[in-house]
Amino acid sequence: MAGPLFGRRLLIIAGKGGVGRTTVACALGALAARQGKRVLIAQTRSKNRLRELFGVERDFSEVAQVRENLWAVNMTPEASLREYGMMVMHSAFLYRQVFERDVVRAFLRAVPGLYDYAMLGKTWFHTTEQQGGRPRFDLVILDGPATGHILTLLRLPKIILDTIPEGPMTGPARDSWSLLTDPKRCLTVLTTLAEDLPVTETIQLAQGLRELTLPCGPVVVNRLYPPRLHSGLPKLAFDELLRSDSAQSDETLGPVLRAARLHRQRAQLNEHHVARLHKALPLPQLHLPYLFRDSFDQTAIDELGDRLEGQVAALDLSQRAK
Ligand SMILES: Nc1ncnc2c1ncn2[C@@H]1O[C@H](COP(=O)(O)OP(=O)(O)O)[C@@H](O)[C@H]1O
Ligand SMILES: [Mg+2]
Repeated sequence: MAGPLFGRRLLIIAGKGGVGRTTVACALGALAARQGKRVLIAQTRSKNRLRELFGVERDFSEVAQVRENLWAVNMTPEASLREYGMMVMHSAFLYRQVFERDVVRAFLRAVPGLYDYAMLGKTWFHTTEQQGGRPRFDLVILDGPATGHILTLLRLPKIILDTIPEGPMTGPARDSWSLLTDPKRCLTVLTTLAEDLPVTETIQLAQGLRELTLPCGPVVVNRLYPPRLHSGLPKLAFDELLRSDSAQSDETLGPVLRAARLHRQRAQLNEHHVARLHKALPLPQLHLPYLFRDSFDQTAIDELGDRLEGQVAALDLSQRAK
């Protein structure tokens, strides 16, 4: 699965809720766009964080440009199903005749996974879309649903291929399954924090992806505390000071030392979980720092993009999880 990360057609950002999937999707997207790729960030049922993150007044229910080389869309289930239905039926008229009758709509809402399948279909469609004789987007980044849901979503084309007789549904299912399982064209980018539960979930998610034969790319470890406290003192002397009872009880020095110790413990905990993750999943890691800011906007995205630049260039994607 060697070759550049941004040479893929689809990157799927997966991970536990709140670990920074949207942030990472945007930082990777902004970086690839800066390197000249035409990038689409496709979100599923997101709460329009793109507006704050990129400072643009759009609702993104349709593909909208965010900045040079960068587009975004917030896929809603109903709109995706409409697009997908039209794609399969090759006619808006037929689609309305079939899908927009109340009885059919009520039926569709009850079919498990159908809306998700439509969003996956729309994502796949954007990887194939042509404009002016070339692909409209070089790279699509799917800001996927949280862990509990992503395997269900990614498994759908396979379920359709295994259960539904050959027909209009199966063509796109076969094409999207062949994209999802081809490491030269598609990788899942697991995103996590270096903490107990997110790392455990990430290891399980990687296992689930492997069972489905879906290829994993690098793991992004987000919100890392700065590794070392630069005290200016040699490490041993500093350790000594942290342990010293008289220094701890000193009125001025005591609180500073306690804060320093807390900081060090926090960073050590991060290091422990980074190592644990690496041991369980021998995939390359991309590390992002905790940014301490009161507003998280496009300057934060670009700062994270800057942090990723050298790491992405140095990535060795020939490593694979066991
Ligand atoms: N590197 C970082 N440093 C500081 N805060 C971050 C970082 N990455 C994400 N966040 C914050 O964490 C929260 C969750 O991020 P988000 O990308 O929305 O997660 P998800 O999409 O996984 O739910 C947001 O408030 C975001 O601003
Ligand atoms: Mg999100």
